[in-house]
Amino acid sequence: MQLQQEISRRRTFAIIAHPDAGKTTLTEKLLLFGGAIQIAGAVKSNKINRATVSDFMEIERQRGISVATSVMGFEYKDLKINILDTPGHQDFAEDTYRTLTAVDSVIVVVDAAKGVETQTEKLVEVCRRRDTPVIVFINKMDREALDPFDLIEEIEKKLHLHVQPLSWPIGMGKTFRGVYNLFERNLVLFSPHGKQSEEDIIQFNDLSSPDLEKHIFGAADRLREDIELIEGVHDSFDKEAYLAGKISPVFFGSAVNNFGVKELLDCFVAIAPQPQPCPTEEREVEPEEEVFSGFVFKIHANMDPNHRNRIAFLRVCSGTFERNKAYLHVRLDKQLKFNAPTSFMADKKSIIDYAWPGDIVGLYDTGNFRIGDTLTEGESLHFKGIPSFSPELFRYVENADPLKSKQLAKGLEQLMDEGVVQLFTQQLNGRKIVGAVGALQLEVLEYRLKHEYGATCRYEATDLYKACWITSDKPADLQVFRLRKARNMATDKFGHDVYLATSAWDLNSTRELFPSIQFHFTSEG
Ligand code: G4P
Repeated sequence: MQLQQEISRRRTFAIIAHPDAGKTTLTEKLLLFGGAIQIAGAVKSNKINRATVSDFMEIERQRGISVATSVMGFEYKDLKINILDTPGHQDFAEDTYRTLTAVDSVIVVVDAAKGVETQTEKLVEVCRRRDTPVIVFINKMDREALDPFDLIEEIEKKLHLHVQPLSWPIGMGKTFRGVYNLFERNLVLFSPHGKQSEEDIIQFNDLSSPDLEKHIFGAADRLREDIELIEGVHDSFDKEAYLAGKISPVFFGSAVNNFGVKELLDCFVAIAPQPQPCPTEEREVEPEEEVFSGFVFKIHANMDPNHRNRIAFLRVCSGTFERNKAYLHVRLDKQLKFNAPTSFMADKKSIIDYAWPGDIVGLYDTGNFRIGDTLTEGESLHFKGIPSFSPELFRYVENADPLKSKQLAKGLEQLMDEGVVQLFTQQLNGRKIVGAVGALQLEVLEYRLKHEYGATCRYEATDLYKACWITSDKPADLQVFRLRKARNMATDKFGHDVYLATSAWDLNSTRELFPSIQFHFTSEG
């Protein structure tokens, strides 16, 4: 009974955005509404203005000290809401992809002046693949913005989302007057600097009423026309379609002015999904199952060399997680107990006795965990959907200090478990190759190997173009492929076969030559 109640009051989601669109500002306003923080400025931005490794490490060091910023929980209208933070820098997009496996829905922030930017496209694509319900918040309406109809069209085209405006802007920039909230059917008037009050919200069901002019002088006709157009295209809002990932509500506002944020939050709590079933290779796990299960989607190292522990972030998928109870670590086939599991509330973290589906628990780790690991009460389950993406940058990694080869091996292994880079081992000669999505990842690896493990590595150029995971339902063909292509074969951290293509031409001709082999560009480890 308690389990069911706890599940139905949880909402776990992520905010995704191109850097600078206003993710940090929006997160902060949501936390202020929830009373979880008292003042603005409490949420640390994780954006990196100058993309140098020392800037990044400094931010990571600060964040490492208060790892709570990775998950921010707060209570609102009797619901327990968990916001999962996602990195701002595109070189760390893989970290965001993994975080998306641990949420039940997503809010996408779009800058009204810039429209849809590339990184948002990639991230929303991951949501679409998983049918994750998406709400769109178009931010910065207090600035000169693109035409709202053009914005809607751009979102539909570039993000391939079928959208439905649930609020509509009245003017923009200097003439921004507020929004008409189609979900609640009220007029919300804008006053800058976040000085919104109850009087600014006016119930207004009948837009044809001449009274409209009194509130938005000179803008009433345009609003009537806009709303008529929108209501002509869209039926009334269908929550089921949203929950199935088929339709995405859109809100307009200005996070920094705290405008439109409460409407967004109220709609979010009214429609966002509670914890959903999680797919595993074996079966689908329902949150209501009495026995506990969960998976690790993120590992955060403590950057302080005096405290070398790490925190593994576990999403609870089913049952009740209990402190000091022994759970099966499926990959290691080992029982583990946790005496200080942590929960995260805004900028504080505290030790908890219980956690329920949808919750994120921080587990202190001395090297047992790697991303994708599962804990259960005994069943052998492997959660699906934690993807590794085909990296685009490859370097041989060599030991530059012969006295520190052990440290290098240990560092590489642990940092690979954290997902800092991907590591491939060539099958023919055992040479190690690191693969990354962005150059900053390689710099971070080098920096952390030196500062945390005392190891010095040297990168050497490769002629590689892409790493693809290969499978086949014909084992004999796979064996032939391995022998014929031995020079290009490598193994990933799970021991899976990887083909290292040297060019687009090489990849295409190899695929043609071996039609019974499947090439995959993501691996769900
Ligand atoms: P991010 O996490 O998505 O990277 O964005 P963040 O919230 O840090 O916001 C990026 C910049 O946009 C910040 O300005 C922030 O104040 C501003 N901003 C956020 N929401 C709005 C809005 O609704 N209207 C306007 N006009 N600006 C907005 P900054 O100058 O980079 O930083 P700061 O010094 O103001 O904090």
